[in-house]
Amino acid sequence: MQDTKTTITSISDFEKEVSQGLTDNPKHLSSMYFYDKKGDKLFQDIMAMPTYYLTDSEYEILENNKEEISNLFTGFESFDLIELGAGDGKKTKILLKEFSDQKIDFTYVPIDISDNALNQLQQSIEIELPDVQVQPFQGTYFEALKEINSRENRKIILFLGSNIGNLEHEQAVVFMNKIQQLMQPEDLLFMGFDQKKNPQTILDAYNDKEGVTAAFNKNVLARINTELNANFDLKQFLHWEVYNPETGTAKSYLVSKIEQTVHIKNLELTVGFKQWETIHTEISQKYDDEIITWLAKESGLKMTTSYESTAYGYKNCVFKKA
Ligand code: AVI
Repeated sequence: MQDTKTTITSISDFEKEVSQGLTDNPKHLSSMYFYDKKGDKLFQDIMAMPTYYLTDSEYEILENNKEEISNLFTGFESFDLIELGAGDGKKTKILLKEFSDQKIDFTYVPIDISDNALNQLQQSIEIELPDVQVQPFQGTYFEALKEINSRENRKIILFLGSNIGNLEHEQAVVFMNKIQQLMQPEDLLFMGFDQKKNPQTILDAYNDKEGVTAAFNKNVLARINTELNANFDLKQFLHWEVYNPETGTAKSYLVSKIEQTVHIKNLELTVGFKQWETIHTEISQKYDDEIITWLAKESGLKMTTSYESTAYGYKNCVFKKA
């Protein structure tokens, strides 16, 4: 197994995001910064909760269709399986195992913002699937695109977990278009899209009774406290989820329960909150066929096939360059 992990730290991006987001009106912070060691663990706990149906539905799709998916990917000598936002790789291991069992020649390139998640993933693959070649890359999606660009093999790009839903439509088109530009005619993009469904099911997925999602959302404040020397009192913020069934957009907020002032020492910034003032932290977009077709068309992609979990309302779509 090779160990060619590349590390890029972007604390200055975090500082920029925090000073910009907390001085804008209305306030906002990017969900990209939920993820540190604690945030990764909280997200893993979320993925294990039955109310967060996204993981089970995608797992079911991959498990039920692994042979067919494997046939789609393996028409060529060898390829790179590049996964954007790999996380704990639990679902991807279904494919890794299938390829490994079939003695297929490929390299797995997991890309994630979290160094910690990548380390755990690499260690677990070493133990569970020792024949699989892994080349982890730590970085943002933007940095990931550069990495993709530098690879010459045939590419299968995985973007699972409805991670695309954390981008607004315009950003999603820009992102998918960039991927499209880096693809050769034989390359494939395999993406997960959570579907529009009963609004209550979505609210339950993003507002669990145990408070795990609330802790995940508040982790961005915890990170500002530890990394930028701030004094956010997490108890004085409420996790709040809304879902608009017309647009399919779920939005997470942190709401200040009281009028309060927070000091962020490293930024020499004092931030005032009115009672019930919000910080918008995340969008989790839900899709229908019309939106997916539109996204693909705008990005210069064409869908070649798709797999569906009807029980949960989730789709995995395969795209080629149009
Ligand atoms: C990573 N991403 C697709 C998750 C989502 O569903 O938006 C993150 C998440 N946020 C709250 N729960 C899970």
